[in-house]
Amino acid sequence: MNILSIETSCDETALAVLECSGNLSAPRFTLRAETVASQIEIHKPFGGVFPMLAKREHARNLVPLFMELLQKAGMRESASPAAALHSGILENIRMVLEREPDLFTHFKEHILTIKKPPVDAIAVTQGPGLEPTLWVGINFARALGLLWNIPILPTNHMEGHIMSVLLDKTDKIKSQKSKIKIEFPAVALLVSGGHTQLVLVRDWLQYELLGETRDDAVGEAFDKVARILGLPYPGGPEISRLADEARAKKYPEVMKLPRPMLNSGNYDFSFSGLKTAVLYGVKKLGTLSDEQRGAIACEFEDAAIEVLLEKTKRALQEHSAKTLVIGGGVVANRYLRGKFTELMREFPNTTLLLPEHKLSTDNAVMIAMAAYVRNLASPTDTPTSGVVDIVAQGTMKL
Ligand code: KG4
Ligand code: ZN
Repeated sequence: MNILSIETSCDETALAVLECSGNLSAPRFTLRAETVASQIEIHKPFGGVFPMLAKREHARNLVPLFMELLQKAGMRESASPAAALHSGILENIRMVLEREPDLFTHFKEHILTIKKPPVDAIAVTQGPGLEPTLWVGINFARALGLLWNIPILPTNHMEGHIMSVLLDKTDKIKSQKSKIKIEFPAVALLVSGGHTQLVLVRDWLQYELLGETRDDAVGEAFDKVARILGLPYPGGPEISRLADEARAKKYPEVMKLPRPMLNSGNYDFSFSGLKTAVLYGVKKLGTLSDEQRGAIACEFEDAAIEVLLEKTKRALQEHSAKTLVIGGGVVANRYLRGKFTELMREFPNTTLLLPEHKLSTDNAVMIAMAAYVRNLASPTDTPTSGVVDIVAQGTMKL
């Protein structure tokens, strides 16, 4: 089946079309096309994501990106808008997009001029994320579902990060079987801007939360420490770049940071103290040289990653995990990827699955994959009509 997916949970407007096939023992995904509009430049002056601005940008971007997506996928064909205009559908779509009048205007001008593409369902991120921005994506999905009378698959963003590892680049060669396989029990480490969780995955969609952060998420700590060091938003990649440089040039250590909750005996995390320690340390040092900034970025990265490594290691041991999946924006971090790859030498019976670099941060590809897997595992959960009320289903929390 072909799934169109929509992700607007934060500051990326992302769309994708995937061809999904196979069963749970071997789900297969072929990426037909994707389009993304990043809002980084818009939010940079605010040092973080400004939700109402993000919502406005999503509403502006969705239709142009969608038209581009269909073009790339070879699925764009012109049609006369008459059919939709003369049935009551347009009025229903207007109601769904009532709070997004610009989106409705774009919808009428462009989407009514194309034929229904060969898409069987629409996956959309229903949360967690920024509520105003989620709604834009959800309402756009509902409008498309109404127009084409196809089902909507409301999808959990964090489940998306878990499934982000399932895209096999080599899968393009049809005869070759995908080597990517999540074997259970698996442990998933989720490291994003909003979450830090260790999850035991007993089977497809069977989650048990082992532990999570008690305060800031690890990505949030990267962003806050970056701000303290005077680096631009988003801070994660900046810290990573400076820390790599500091390691390569062997800059001397300028502050020693704590490893919060390293020996707490549970799977919880805390990153807010780490950020505060950086803040006090920087205040003491006064104006920072580039070398000092690099050394602090490096020590912060070491501290945060050491805690993630240690807790994950214990979870793998305790649950004899066959697979370790790491998902979420922070897995874009080069040093983290290297350290976890090294860790796996101690676990010869466990396979480490990491998403390809561009699927680490928010994207729509992972949303289509998560929707397909959920649809395979529990098809009765799946709404069968485009007019499903997503609000009633609420937001799942892993
Ligand atoms: O998953 P994601 O794109 O959005 C959320 O769901 O939150 O994660 C974004 C987070 C941000 O905090 C960002 O700074 C962090 O991922 N991040 C990184 C790197 N790239 C993105 N953190 C460390 N190193 C990176 N290279
Ligand atoms: Zn995310």
